[in-house]
Amino acid sequence: MEDLSPRPGDLEPIEMASRDEISALQLKRLKTTLAHAYQNSPHYRARFDEAGVHPDDLKTLSDLSKFPFTVKKDLRDTYPFGMFAVPREKLARIHASSGTTGKPTVVGYTRNDIDTWATVVARSIRAAGGRPGDICHIAYGYGLFTGGLGAHYGAEKLGCTVVPISGGMTERQVTLIQDFKPRIIMVTPSYMLSILDEYRKLGIDPRSTSLAVGIFGAEPWTNAMRLEIERDFDMHAVDIYGLSEVIGPGVANECMETKDGLHVWEDHFYPEVVDPETGEVLPDGEMGELVFTSLTKEALPIIRYRTRDLTRLLPGTARAMRRIEKITGRSDDMMILRGVNVFPTQIEEQILKCSGLAPHFQIELTRNGRMDDMIVHVEAMPNATGSDVRAHSAKELAHHIKSVVGVSTKVKVGDPDSVERSAGKAKRVVDNRLKG
Ligand code: DLL
Repeated sequence: MEDLSPRPGDLEPIEMASRDEISALQLKRLKTTLAHAYQNSPHYRARFDEAGVHPDDLKTLSDLSKFPFTVKKDLRDTYPFGMFAVPREKLARIHASSGTTGKPTVVGYTRNDIDTWATVVARSIRAAGGRPGDICHIAYGYGLFTGGLGAHYGAEKLGCTVVPISGGMTERQVTLIQDFKPRIIMVTPSYMLSILDEYRKLGIDPRSTSLAVGIFGAEPWTNAMRLEIERDFDMHAVDIYGLSEVIGPGVANECMETKDGLHVWEDHFYPEVVDPETGEVLPDGEMGELVFTSLTKEALPIIRYRTRDLTRLLPGTARAMRRIEKITGRSDDMMILRGVNVFPTQIEEQILKCSGLAPHFQIELTRNGRMDDMIVHVEAMPNATGSDVRAHSAKELAHHIKSVVGVSTKVKVGDPDSVERSAGKAKRVVDNRLKG
């Protein structure tokens, strides 16, 4: 694989700033953001007043813990435009999360917000090894989802030639990669696996493509998956994180020279990790729920937003800005099976150890009397479909899950292509516990 480490002159000055300089900038921006939220958003004014805090109470960064959290319900309760801190006419763009139940969560951007967003995505692509002039194939979904357009504006800002293909039509994805020869691909890791399958179906060696950098995010994925994708495509696989409430993709990104967790772009987003039960701020290094406060956003300043993503804060390495450890799950993805906490990523890691199994999977939860059961639906590799081989793979996976994760599961090894595919975020868990 190519060495894509940054060269002198590649980085923005803030990426080379010291910790003290970053903290000083954060304090200044945090004061401005709290004042803006209080003065211009009736929602925040009411919340701060209820909690008995005023923006002037923030003297140091740690004073932020006195301010109330924001949760997804606040956005739902103020649907559609009630949380914005600018008049509607100042909004240049709206995005929204699909929301599995009820109304979607709506977020908005001023022109300056769009530019901030493009800046952090451009920085993310560069951190991943992308350069001006590269062709960038964007297979994140375009539309209300922030993935496609967020990646698009960032790639254009960096100076890339953008191919806005969006998700779906997998054979055409392969054709355009073969014909346009992009160096960069931006897509969910699970959909990258579908593209990989398509290469194999068409009999084209995926290691022969022009792709040098994959920027994968929008869903949890493991280091084991990284190694698999890097090996199969002979490319760098780097993690990008973000969420629409905070801005979209580009809140944090891995640097290709270290691939050791995601640097939070701390000049725009202030991270905290809190105890998910008590809300107490935890010291760096401890696992908990990630919370973000925006530092430069105009339309939707977001104060102490509870992401539900579980991780810990780590010191900077490739940059002075702190890192988050690769996100292994969300508090609402966590399954509790006979007292053991289980995340889909733990199952992914075990599947990748079994050579007879393809990396596509879905977990079904069922109820048997008062006991919950977990069935892992997975696929045989095309060269391992014989019934003996499948039975062996099923046993092997159940054994790994039992010994490493600590729960007994049923494993069903289906035909290649039998597990539901998505062109965006994969649906990892199907909960049938309340059905007959
Ligand atoms: O998924 C934004 C995005 C698009 C990020 C493209 C990266 C690439 P939402 O639809 O609002 O926004 O979903 C946000 O997705 O709270 C996490 O639970 C999950 N997520 C996003 N990136 C990662 C990642 C976009 N790299 C929610 N690893 C977040 C693990 C991720 N989970």
